[in-house]
Amino acid sequence: MRTQVAIIGAGPSGLLLGQLLHKHGIDNVIVERHTGEHVLSRIRAGVIEQVTMDLLDEAGVGARMHQDGLIHEGVQICVDGVRHRISFKDLTGKAVMVYGQTEITKDLMDGRAAVGAPTIYAAYDVALHDIFGTHPRVTYRADGKNHEIECDFIAGCDGFHGISRKSVPPRAITAHERVYPIGWLGLLSETPPVSEELIYVRHELGFALCSMRSHTRSRYYIQCSLAEDIESWPDERFWEELKPRLDEEARERLVTGPSIEKSIAPLRSFVAEPMRFGRLFLAGDAAHIVPPTGAKGLNLAASDVQYLWRALLEHYKDKSDAGIDHYSDRALARVWKAERFSWWMTMTLHKISENPFDVKIQLAELDYLFRSKAAATVFAENYVGLPY
Ligand code: APR
Ligand code: PHB
Repeated sequence: MRTQVAIIGAGPSGLLLGQLLHKHGIDNVIVERHTGEHVLSRIRAGVIEQVTMDLLDEAGVGARMHQDGLIHEGVQICVDGVRHRISFKDLTGKAVMVYGQTEITKDLMDGRAAVGAPTIYAAYDVALHDIFGTHPRVTYRADGKNHEIECDFIAGCDGFHGISRKSVPPRAITAHERVYPIGWLGLLSETPPVSEELIYVRHELGFALCSMRSHTRSRYYIQCSLAEDIESWPDERFWEELKPRLDEEARERLVTGPSIEKSIAPLRSFVAEPMRFGRLFLAGDAAHIVPPTGAKGLNLAASDVQYLWRALLEHYKDKSDAGIDHYSDRALARVWKAERFSWWMTMTLHKISENPFDVKIQLAELDYLFRSKAAATVFAENYVGLPY
C-alpha cells in the first residue's frame, strides 16, 4: 500500500490530523493498535478551548459539539470551603466548551467513515522504518498477515505508550519529566452537576474537581495515592471522601448515584524534544503529557495538529518546507506554556508536600489569584488558551 501520510494511532490527534489532511486532498492511512470500540471506551477530559473548537469545525466534525457542548464563561476555585469565581468572559472576552473527549473521538471517527478514508484497526507489531531516509515505511500485522505502507511522512499520534517516540534513536531525543506522587480517582455518574461551572477544590484533605458532561451527567475527581486499588473504592466511599472537601452549598446540592465509570490516573508532566525526526513528526500525547489539572491534554494535541496539517499542506500545495522545518519549534513553544500552567495548577491545588512552608506558598498563590486582576487575567488567559 502507498499513501502520502501514514498516521500511527486513532486517538484525537491522529483522527483530527487525518480528517484535515483528507479534506485538503492529502492522502492518509491511520494504523491503530486497538479496535474502534476500545478506543471509544476510554473516558478522558472534557474542556476544549476556542482554538480546538475552530479546528473541529474546520475538520467538518463540529456540529454535535455545538449542539450538545456547554459553553462555560468562568470557573470556580474553592479553597478550604470558600468558593471564588474567575470570569473568563470579563477578563479575556473568551469562553471554553465542556464536551467530552470520547464524544469528540466518536465525531471524528464518524467523520472519517463518512468520507471513506482508511483506518486499520487491530494492527499489531506496528514498526516504523527509514524515518531519516527518503522512503519511510510502516509495517504491521493484521488478519494474520504482514502488511507494509510506503509513505512520504509518518505522523506519530500514538500516545504516551506508543511506538513512534520509541523508534527514534535515544541520542536524537531529550525527555523532560516530572512525576507527581499522586493520582486522580475519577467517577462518572448519571446525576446533575453540583454547579453550573466546574469547581476546582483545594482542601487540606486533598484536591477535588467537580466537572460535568451534560446537565444530567457529572464527572468528579478526588486526589488519591498512587498505591490505591480501584477495587477498594466502592461508590459510597468515593462520595464520602468527596463531600468534606466541598463548600457547604456544594455539599448540600451534591446528588450522588451509582458510577458509570471509575478509574485512577497518575499525574505526570513530560515533554520530548524535538518533535520532528527526519520524516517522522510526533503529535499529541506521543510527544508530551500534562497533568489533567489544567485541562490542556486534548487542546495541546489539537494545537500540534494545527501546526502539522498546515505544514504538510504547505509542503504539498506550495512546495515549501518552511512549515515542516518550523513544526517542532512552533509546537514546543506552546507545549511549554501549557506545561507551566498545568504544573502550576497541580502544585497549587493538590496536597503534595507536608512542609508547612509549601502549604503557605500555595495559600499565598491562591490569595493573590483572587485579589489581583492581573493574576486572575493570567490564569484566565492560560485556561482559555489565549497566549499562544
Ligand atoms: N501502534 C498503533 N497504535 C497505537 C500504538 C501502536 N504501537 N500505541 C498506541 N496506539 C494508539 C492507542 O491505542 C490510541 O488509540 O494510539 C492512540 C493514541 O491516542 P491517545 O492516547 O488518545 O493520544 P492523542 O490522540 O495524542 O490524544 C491526546 O488528549 O486529553 C488528552 O491525554 C489525553 O488522550 C488524550 C490526548
Ligand atoms: C473532566 O471533565 O474530565 C475534566 C475537566 C477539567 C479538568 C480535567 C478533567 O481540568
